[in-house]
Amino acid sequence: MNTFLLLLHLVVLGLPRTWATEACLRACPTACTCSSVERGCSVRCDRAGLQRVPTEFPCKAASIDLDRNGLRILGERAFGTLPSLRRLSLRHNNLSFITPGAFKGLPRLAELRLAHNGELRYLHARTFAALGHLRRLDLASCRLFSVPERLLAELPALREFAAFDNLFRHVPAALRGLENLTHVHLERSRIEAVASNSLQGLRRLRALSLQANRVRAVHAGAFYDCGALEHLLLNDNLLAALPADAFRGLHLLRTLNLGGNALGQVARAWFADLGELELLYLDRNSITFVEEGAFQNLSGLLALHLNGNHLTVLSWAAFQPGFFLGHLFLFRNPWHCDCHLEWLRDWIEGSGRLTDVPCSSPGSVAGLDLSQVVFERSSSGLCVDPEELNLTVSSPGLSPEPVATTMSRFSSLLSKLLAPRVPVEEEANSTLVLSNTSLSDNIPSCGMWVLGHKGTILFISCFLLIYGVGLQRD
Ligand SMILES: *[C@@H]1O[C@H](CO)[C@@H](O)[C@H](O)[C@H]1NC(C)=O
Ligand SMILES: *[C@@H]1O[C@H](CO)[C@@H](O)[C@H](O)[C@H]1NC(C)=O
Ligand SMILES: *[C@@H]1O[C@H](CO)[C@@H](O)[C@H](O)[C@H]1NC(C)=O
Ligand SMILES: *[C@@H]1O[C@H](CO)[C@@H](O)[C@H](O)[C@H]1NC(C)=O
Ligand SMILES: *[C@@H]1O[C@H](CO)[C@@H](O)[C@H](O)[C@H]1NC(C)=O
Ligand SMILES: *[C@@H]1O[C@H](CO)[C@@H](O)[C@H](O)[C@H]1NC(C)=O
Repeated sequence: MNTFLLLLHLVVLGLPRTWATEACLRACPTACTCSSVERGCSVRCDRAGLQRVPTEFPCKAASIDLDRNGLRILGERAFGTLPSLRRLSLRHNNLSFITPGAFKGLPRLAELRLAHNGELRYLHARTFAALGHLRRLDLASCRLFSVPERLLAELPALREFAAFDNLFRHVPAALRGLENLTHVHLERSRIEAVASNSLQGLRRLRALSLQANRVRAVHAGAFYDCGALEHLLLNDNLLAALPADAFRGLHLLRTLNLGGNALGQVARAWFADLGELELLYLDRNSITFVEEGAFQNLSGLLALHLNGNHLTVLSWAAFQPGFFLGHLFLFRNPWHCDCHLEWLRDWIEGSGRLTDVPCSSPGSVAGLDLSQVVFERSSSGLCVDPEELNLTVSSPGLSPEPVATTMSRFSSLLSKLLAPRVPVEEEANSTLVLSNTSLSDNIPSCGMWVLGHKGTILFISCFLLIYGVGLQRD
């Protein structure tokens, strides 16, 4: 490098850095280590046995870590005036009182962590006054019963609010109208309901965690203002029902977790607007019934979790008109493996995925996996339900179905979907003959794998293509 440039470099960049390092070290509190790092002066006083906040910090401090000390009280202007401070962490202390104005003098503070101060319990409404640049506030595990309604109103820049592991019984009213919030973590509290106005005005909210609370009710219109929501976690609550329009307008939602609740059925209307949904969790509920069309608009779905329910049957009509997903989780359900599930067996086989669908009934197939069930054909080519027997293995002597190519599998799926079905009783008299799978040769090749958006393989049913239903995505 040219000497002149080198000198220039030293003068312009080198000297101020040396000076900054000195400034950083000069006023370093005795219990702490200070270092000048890329993002400014970093002060580390964690696990230093401090009972009170050091009286002086380097005035250039950009980050202060006071985690895991024995701090109990923060007085007014507890940190003096630190115009460069952006990050302050006070986790795992024993704070029981924060004087209003404790954080005055920190005009550029962007991140404040107060998690794991189990004695805090209450906060004064003016605790965070004058923190006009605060973007992230962490109040997790502070055993808070509530937060004052005006607590967050003076934080116009607040984006992320973490307050999980507290003792809230309601969604804090302090959240209302915080139009700039993008992330709210309220999991593992005691929240009982999401009221119509709980989330009023949260127009930029992208992620909301309410899992592991005691939510029994989501009121109509609760998410009405949350059209920007991408991730909504309501799992492990006490929901037995949802209003028909619970998720209306959530056009950008990508994850919806309703697992671990007490839902008994899945209504057609719930997911109608969720065209961008990728992950839908309905596992560990008491679902016995999925309404026709319930998943019909979920054209971007990558995984559907229905495991751990009381499902005996899942109708193809739930998915009509026919986009299909990457992964279907169906284990731990008492499946009734009769002809109603033949489409599913064919889909599983055709997709080449291992899907665990244990059959509980009829008797002749109980204990088998759906993929092992052989559906017989009547002389007229109709599917014949397995018998209701007391045996737990399929009757011997039936030759397994010939191994079919993926293509003819899909074709036979089509024929099965198109074939009229007759009840078992009417079939009892007919001779049971394995069909010649005759339809497959006459049908244009229609089953196909398509690389769906975001790289997922989607199976488009023959049904769709034959009937010319357009498949338009992206
Ligand atoms: C925390 O503070 C409370 C009183 O506010 C006190 O009883 C308790 O012993 C303190 N715990 C620790 C670990 O200092
Ligand atoms: C949201 O942010 C904008 C711009 O930063 C600010 O003017 C507005 O007051 C904020 N809104 C609230 C409710 O704090
Ligand atoms: C699917 O979405 C369309 C429009 O996007 C809507 O008309 C239809 O009602 C939705 N399906 C259901 C089951 O609501
Ligand atoms: C199965 O066997 C039990 C006792 O052996 C009998 O009570 C029951 O009716 C049988 N069920 C069927 C479907 O045959
Ligand atoms: C079998 O068919 C005969 C006449 O074709 C009828 O009388 C009989 O009831 C049928 N049996 C059953 C079990 O449906
Ligand atoms: C199966 O097809 C063969 C010839 O293709 C025919 O002889 C036989 O009768 C058919 N069997 C049935 C049950 O249709």
